[in-house]
Amino acid sequence: MERPRVASRVAGFKGEAPMDVIAEHVQLPQPRLAACWEAIRVAPGVRERLLSQAVLALTVRRKLPFEVAPIHGLIVLFGPPGTGKTTLARGLANEIAKALTPPGATLVAVDPHALASVAPGQTQKEITRLFQQTLPDLAASGPVIVLLDEVDTLVVDRQRLSLESNPIDVHRATDAALLGLDRLCQSQPNVLLLATTNFPQALDRALLSRADLIEEIGLPDVEARTQIIAEMLQHLARHWPALEGLKQEIKFLAAASEGVDGRRLRKTFIAAIASSLETARDPNRVKSTHIIAALQGLRRDLQAEHEERRRLEALLSHELHPRSG
Ligand SMILES: Nc1ncnc2c1ncn2[C@@H]1O[C@H](COP(=O)(O)OP(=O)(O)O)[C@@H](O)[C@H]1O
Ligand SMILES: [Mg+2]
Repeated sequence: MERPRVASRVAGFKGEAPMDVIAEHVQLPQPRLAACWEAIRVAPGVRERLLSQAVLALTVRRKLPFEVAPIHGLIVLFGPPGTGKTTLARGLANEIAKALTPPGATLVAVDPHALASVAPGQTQKEITRLFQQTLPDLAASGPVIVLLDEVDTLVVDRQRLSLESNPIDVHRATDAALLGLDRLCQSQPNVLLLATTNFPQALDRALLSRADLIEEIGLPDVEARTQIIAEMLQHLARHWPALEGLKQEIKFLAAASEGVDGRRLRKTFIAAIASSLETARDPNRVKSTHIIAALQGLRRDLQAEHEERRRLEALLSHELHPRSG
């Protein structure tokens, strides 16, 4: 069956875009993305490294032949889920657009889940077209920043799908994606790829070796957690002033949330409010004991998730490096 197409969604290139594959296509800078850059607490130096590498890739790279300066225009952010990689990558794209002369870039968010799972047989063609036509066409009119969020999905899904009906198609599609990415990196100095992954070990080694910068975005340290908690309380206290009192417990809460990622840490406060009808009706009644109880609930989930993650990592290393496993 022919998949529907959306020529109108992606202006500025010839032909039609693969519908599900491009999740977003916007002109940068965008005020709504500026907040993303500021929201994520990362180790000192990370922001500056990312931004300078990205700007270099879109400026210096254009002036020097690839043989002289083999810059691929690929930045990889890796780390556990919920550590702010997607948000930071989106914010980074916006900062890059602001830093270029003249300012401006196109952000194209590719959905690797869609790449890996749509219509077998058709997928390979779609992928080839995305990397060999759509993105180069867009790049002809200015810098293009391509966000490949959860790029490991290509391989993770390949593994999952290979147990199902169309292994050849799926493998071909993945190979096409990896090859397309590689070619794009080498031939399009106007394109910068920002890839995020929760499983760097699942990524194609050849691709990873082409990255100009691989930045680990780890779990927030005590300093980062303190800032996240302070910011959460500040927001909440605007509506429920009694929560102002919890600010005295920030240090304690930051210590108690060791090992918790940024997304979950923020959600802990929501879970604490939702922990009883009384607090849900009036969040002013939330005490630090509610937050600690929510953190304890979280620890049980985290434990289960770590086990699932280890299982998946073991599977992946077996799938990718069967001889060493
Ligand atoms: N280091 C952090 N500092 C502040 N907020 C964070 C941090 N990490 C995660 N968050 C919160 O979690 C949300 C989701 O993070 P996300 O970018 O989806 O993480 P990932 O892509 O690593 O799974 C962010 O929008 C932010 O609110
Ligand atoms: Mg993400």
